[in-house]
Amino acid sequence: MSTETDFPSFQERQRSGHLPELVSPGVNGKAQSVPSPADGLSARATQIRAMFSTIAPTYDRLNHVLSFSIDRLWRHRTVRRTLALAEPTRRADRPWRVLDVCAGTGDLSLAFARRLSKVGGGRVVALDYSHAMLTQIASKGRAARLEPSLPVEADALRLPLAGGGFDLATVAFGLRNLVDRPAGLREMARVVRPGGVVAVLEFSRPRNRLLRALYGFYLSRLLPAVGNRWSRSNAYTYLADTIEAFPSPGEVVDWMRQANLERIEAEPLTGGIAFLYTGVVPCKSNE
Ligand SMILES: C[S@@+](CC[C@H](N)C(=O)[O-])C[C@H]1O[C@@H](n2cnc3c(N)ncnc32)[C@H](O)[C@@H]1O
Repeated sequence: MSTETDFPSFQERQRSGHLPELVSPGVNGKAQSVPSPADGLSARATQIRAMFSTIAPTYDRLNHVLSFSIDRLWRHRTVRRTLALAEPTRRADRPWRVLDVCAGTGDLSLAFARRLSKVGGGRVVALDYSHAMLTQIASKGRAARLEPSLPVEADALRLPLAGGGFDLATVAFGLRNLVDRPAGLREMARVVRPGGVVAVLEFSRPRNRLLRALYGFYLSRLLPAVGNRWSRSNAYTYLADTIEAFPSPGEVVDWMRQANLERIEAEPLTGGIAFLYTGVVPCKSNE
């Protein structure tokens, strides 16, 4: 991990006890220091990570412009819905613990932090394997005085976190980028307590023919043309291609089932341009 971090490194966090009991001594219980996210990444994942690091400085502005800021409404819905689902089984004497995987520049993490600051507080761990992305979240969090949002640099497929420590785990527009999506969901489910929630916010394709055609034009033409030029990269061609190729909501629901989640819901947002998927970690029968 880089020593020129704008936020504490994983090892520094472990030493300072900033993430008590949430952080395991090593990946999958192995007693080892937490590896740099670069260790063990496939060639494809390394390539994707480099691409996200390139667009980190322009990501936020482009995101809001290209989505006409509708993404803010989707994040707001995600925060409200997931907190409501996890609330009934939450220990009232413990502050909320939220994990935001593939957090990027942290818009969802900060939306959670903002909401939690109004309902008694809590801790939000924003996890991403791109250092450049996390640098953005660290400065945004500081500017917004939202300290609970803790950036952690790690691979979503090997969460260096103990099992069952979080009330909920979310991934917004990140699942698509994982080289093994069902494994990513299983990892999220592993670190959530029984009764807690796993949520995915992800693009899809609208059912309505007209909307689908307009959206198709936007994806294949407008998004790459504006995004690539602005970010001086090919990242927005990649983004458009991965949205086009992403499986149907039914398949995402299947992955969530395979992750042993229950009460799975898939809620279309803005005519099905995006979906909010939620699932609950089963409570053990003797609890
Ligand atoms: C499209 S951005 C989404 C960021 C943010 N969640 C949002 O809603 O704007 C996808 C993010 O996933 C991260 N990512 C992709 N694969 C990852 C992995 N295996 N582990 C950790 N982060 C990953 C990328 O670095 C990038 O920041």
